[in-house]
Amino acid sequence: MAKYRIRGARPLYGEIEISGAKNAAVAIIPAAIMSGGVCRIENIPQISDVTMFLDILDELGADIKTVNRHTMDIDCSGIKIPRATFDAMRKIRASYYLLGALLGRFGEAEVAMPGGCNFGGVRPIDQHLKGFRAMGAEIRIVNNGVIKAKAPGGRLKGADIYLDVVSVGATINLMLAGAMADGTTVIENVAKEPHIVDLANFLNSIGADIRGAGTNVIKIRGKEKLGGGFYSIIPDQIEAGTYLAAVAGTGGEVLIKNVIPKHLDCITGKLEDMGVEIENREDSVLVRRTGKIRKTRLKTLPYPGFPTDMQPQLATVLCLADGTSTVTEGVWENRYRYMDELVKMGASVQVDGRIAIIEGVPKLIGAPVQAHDLRAGAAMVIAGLCAHGVTEISGIEYIERGYEDIVEKLRNVGADIEYVYDAPKISRSARNIG
Ligand code: EPU
Repeated sequence: MAKYRIRGARPLYGEIEISGAKNAAVAIIPAAIMSGGVCRIENIPQISDVTMFLDILDELGADIKTVNRHTMDIDCSGIKIPRATFDAMRKIRASYYLLGALLGRFGEAEVAMPGGCNFGGVRPIDQHLKGFRAMGAEIRIVNNGVIKAKAPGGRLKGADIYLDVVSVGATINLMLAGAMADGTTVIENVAKEPHIVDLANFLNSIGADIRGAGTNVIKIRGKEKLGGGFYSIIPDQIEAGTYLAAVAGTGGEVLIKNVIPKHLDCITGKLEDMGVEIENREDSVLVRRTGKIRKTRLKTLPYPGFPTDMQPQLATVLCLADGTSTVTEGVWENRYRYMDELVKMGASVQVDGRIAIIEGVPKLIGAPVQAHDLRAGAAMVIAGLCAHGVTEISGIEYIERGYEDIVEKLRNVGADIEYVYDAPKISRSARNIG
């Protein structure tokens, strides 16, 4: 198994180019199922969650052509059977978007329940199912966690839906379902993340009629058919935020390129509170940290609040702050499992339910640590970059689900990070042969 080995405590200098947004890509790729033509999609990140999704579409019968490393032509007109129950489905969380896309196009779907990052808590989908039911679908959960959904008459019906919790996944799934439903769908109390707006823009570019994405209410006039098109995915807000946090932790000066600075306001505002200098440019952000990291209070909330997907990275930087910080997790129930790993590196942290109290220490010390999920893994990388000595991170397959070329991007700004491979264990008898 590969690991990352990092020799830390060196500031970062240079430029990092941000890739396309993972959470937009994993919504837009299944949305292409609803298109009646070829969708050319640009700025697709090269990460394992995307590769797995493309494999799923391939198994379903889509024709996918690679135009270049980040551009694909996806033609889903050949998909005939709305059934996706293969093993790959269980490996990624966003595979549940196939429910909305297949139900929308075929009026029926059979899909395996999703897997994905496990923070240690429950990840329910009751709001997705409530919305599909409001649109007339009959839903059954059968053996092995397979969901069967069917709209009597072969087409979903537009409906008024109020989400009891602000959910990114439910908003996306119901937008997909509504795009081809019969009549108008109004979804209230929706999520407003940049990738929600990106999905609406993509669907509109292929002929859907979706208004209000980015506000609390989304209104969709269902269309019988959607066409093909050309679309470029937005840059990844969380990837950019992760590198901003890395520079905040190590010190130095880096230009983060190919970003939409407005999408980063919720992160850069907090970094400025912590004494980090931020300079917004047209499509890049310069980050510089020369002084001490200041303590702060942080609470994660749905967008435009501070993103939960940046909580582990910022909490790691706060381990080195001048004083005691408080972090409150307002989205997920259990997202502090990674704190035990930071403690191995000398951090001083106390967790009580959704609150973590972090007392800044002068330095972190390199240690062998584990990435428990994608963002916790990114936090381990930041901890390793800040720490004195050598850090070895295992579980890097989680990190590579969401960060394209992370090792190369960090090496380009002066980080000492490399892949290391454990030598395969050879049994005593095998060693004695010959
Ligand atoms: N929730 C419910 N019922 C539902 C759906 C959600 O109670 O039917 C609750 C969840 O338990 C959670 C909250 O609502 O407490 C928010 O969950 P949401 O549905 O918004 O999360 P998600 O769609 O499963 C996406 C991202 C996550 C990110 C969250 C929150 C994707 C593929 N995943 O998950 O990203 O943490 O939104 O912003 O878009 C990551 O990229 O590392 C990641 C985990």
